[in-house]
Amino acid sequence: VGQENINTDIVTLSRFLTEEQTKYPDASGDFTLLCHALQFSFKSIAYYIRRASLINLTGLAGSSNITGDDQKKLDVIGNDIFISAMRGSGKCRILVSEEEEELIKFDEYPDARYAVVCDPIDGSSNLDAGVSVGTIFGIFQLPEELMGAGKEVGPEALLHPGTSLVASGFTMYGASAQLVITMRGGGVNGFTLENSLGEFILTHPNMRLPESRAIYSVNEGNSMYWDEWCNQYFHSLKFPEDGKPYSARYIGSMVADAYRTLLYGGIFAYPADSKSPKGKLRILYECAPMAMVFENAGGLAVNSRMERLMDVVPEHIHDKSGVFLGSKNEVQKVIDMYNKHK
Ligand code: AHG
Ligand code: MN
Ligand code: MN
Ligand code: MN
Repeated sequence: VGQENINTDIVTLSRFLTEEQTKYPDASGDFTLLCHALQFSFKSIAYYIRRASLINLTGLAGSSNITGDDQKKLDVIGNDIFISAMRGSGKCRILVSEEEEELIKFDEYPDARYAVVCDPIDGSSNLDAGVSVGTIFGIFQLPEELMGAGKEVGPEALLHPGTSLVASGFTMYGASAQLVITMRGGGVNGFTLENSLGEFILTHPNMRLPESRAIYSVNEGNSMYWDEWCNQYFHSLKFPEDGKPYSARYIGSMVADAYRTLLYGGIFAYPADSKSPKGKLRILYECAPMAMVFENAGGLAVNSRMERLMDVVPEHIHDKSGVFLGSKNEVQKVIDMYNKHK
């Protein structure tokens, strides 16, 4: 290989965060330190997932969580790793996790300014089959009035819409570990974990969703429970009046289906239905963080009433919502079908 082909000007996540911080002149550096703790948790979770079958970490933990999921051993390990990393950052005041019924408060850091929401292992039903899973996160900044010693911070501090997120993203543990992060009002950037260096390297700068793509991603096994308009919509993709039918791709891990949709385009959906009237996916740590990534990449994200997903306010920290997200023109087709049936 000629000397000139070696890229020696590598952008790691750490360098990216340092450069991002220069955009906020009065930044304290706390957000950057929080993200360093976040990236450690992703590296650590990736380590255990890739060894699960070798160290007896597959299978069920024997417990279930408040949203009724049976917890896998890795759900619990991933949750513990994430909680320790957030506590250890000293920059996280409160934490909501899919695997914790109650809000977690780090009272040892009363001046910490961030609230984090997370789905430690997303797609855990796929774990034992070695299929890609991920971690989803969202970061809110606490209002001044809730910061400082003695201030009582409760779950209501997190019952805000996705538009209040300061950053969100996910890490997919696939063929390689892919981290995607976006800041409020910013772009979407993708990083690939270089295992031998233990560094996330910028490989997908400024990710933009294709405006259209004939790929749909939904669990058709729920069709019997869908509203009429919803069945009509998917039918129109499979039996189009003009053109070719869409291709179906469903992995069953939101992070993996979302990452493919972000790269290739198309639509991902988990509609609310008669079996799950509020939908299955949780607003705080699945819907809202993903919606922000997709909007910042030029896509759209709506709920089952075609309301902007970023505007939806959770009623409680494990509240759920229907979700349709993806390429702008593909989500518009859902909206058009919904409006036709109103
Ligand atoms: P989690 O593993 O964090 O509980 O999330 C699972 C979610 C999401 O990852 C995926 O899109 C969806 O469940 C799949 O649900 P179905 O198996 O009902 O299709
Ligand atoms: Mn679960
Ligand atoms: Mn999940
Ligand atoms: Mn999960």
